[in-house]
Amino acid sequence: MRHLIDTTDISVEEVDKIISTALDIIADRKKYSEVCRGKKLATLFYEPSTRTRLSFTSAMMELGGSVLGFSDAASSSVSKGETVADTVRVIGCFADIIAMRHSKEGAPLVASQYSEVPIINAGDGSHAHPTQTLTDLLTIRREKGRLNNLTIGFCGDLKFGRTVHSLIKALSRYEGINVVLIAPEELRLPSYIRREVCDKNHVPTREVATMEEVMPELDILYMTRVQKERFLDEEEFERLKDSFILNPERLRNAKKDMIILHPLPRVNEITREVDNDPRAAYFRQVENGKFVRMALIYTLLEWAKERPTSQTPRIADDLVRGEMRCGNRQCISNCEDVDRLFRPTETGDYRCAYCESKVKQ
Ligand code: CP
Repeated sequence: MRHLIDTTDISVEEVDKIISTALDIIADRKKYSEVCRGKKLATLFYEPSTRTRLSFTSAMMELGGSVLGFSDAASSSVSKGETVADTVRVIGCFADIIAMRHSKEGAPLVASQYSEVPIINAGDGSHAHPTQTLTDLLTIRREKGRLNNLTIGFCGDLKFGRTVHSLIKALSRYEGINVVLIAPEELRLPSYIRREVCDKNHVPTREVATMEEVMPELDILYMTRVQKERFLDEEEFERLKDSFILNPERLRNAKKDMIILHPLPRVNEITREVDNDPRAAYFRQVENGKFVRMALIYTLLEWAKERPTSQTPRIADDLVRGEMRCGNRQCISNCEDVDRLFRPTETGDYRCAYCESKVKQ
């Protein structure tokens, strides 16, 4: 049984195959209109969503399947204290595939350890958002014609921005990628992503203070929202929320064929005037989300036929058990009774398997 919990759960070749399938769906939607007839997708959304949940719903409907689920944990038995593990064991009796969004980091990984059906991570806390990454990759491929030899500027909340974390991981596996980081000091990219993803894959990274100073170099500007819901200190949010605002003036020196992406929702970090610029690709990006989720659902259900649950190890073989505790309060391992699992790093440290925070030994 294959799941999609992290961008790197699927190889570059498999990512390219999913993107090719999405392009084939765009070219001939009728061909795929019955491929999931009789199959059910459960959308378990413990956290708010517009695009991800509804694009999953729309995707399954376009494949001929049906959808069940909840969009508010308060209306499910989670409010009575049911764990993620028990919830997915139950939902597996009703559905063939599950898309889960959760505010606790690592919750979809826990789900994958207990599920009899494929689990898709639809966003877990500040950690990861791999289906947004597939959306971004399809958009880049359609807009730029390639996934290599690109200079991409990530701007805004790079600390809590799970879409940024997942996309950097994915792009770092392609040739000729340059990453420029544009963020306030307090919202810098987690250092482990810079060191253990970019440096390890020989992806040059650079931090700059303003978007203007790098604008002429960029092939892609990836804007993000400062995520109010992740801040523990409201005053800090108020101080940082307007750090970077993209407007037509700031685009003056940008390449004519640069594209502007944003996972959305936006608040004020891109002014409305920019929407009329042909380089603004963020609404085209949304539609690509449906096509790539169609390709993903179809692919995971095909893989499930090839490798049933009984042949799947419950826990990945690069993880080890330990007595250490993860220090991240937003990690599922600090909220539910889960196996204590860690991934050894090349420097002899351990990272929590659920949220990737470094743990003290
Ligand atoms: N991009 C994204 O995840 O949007 P939603 O939160 O609306 O699903």
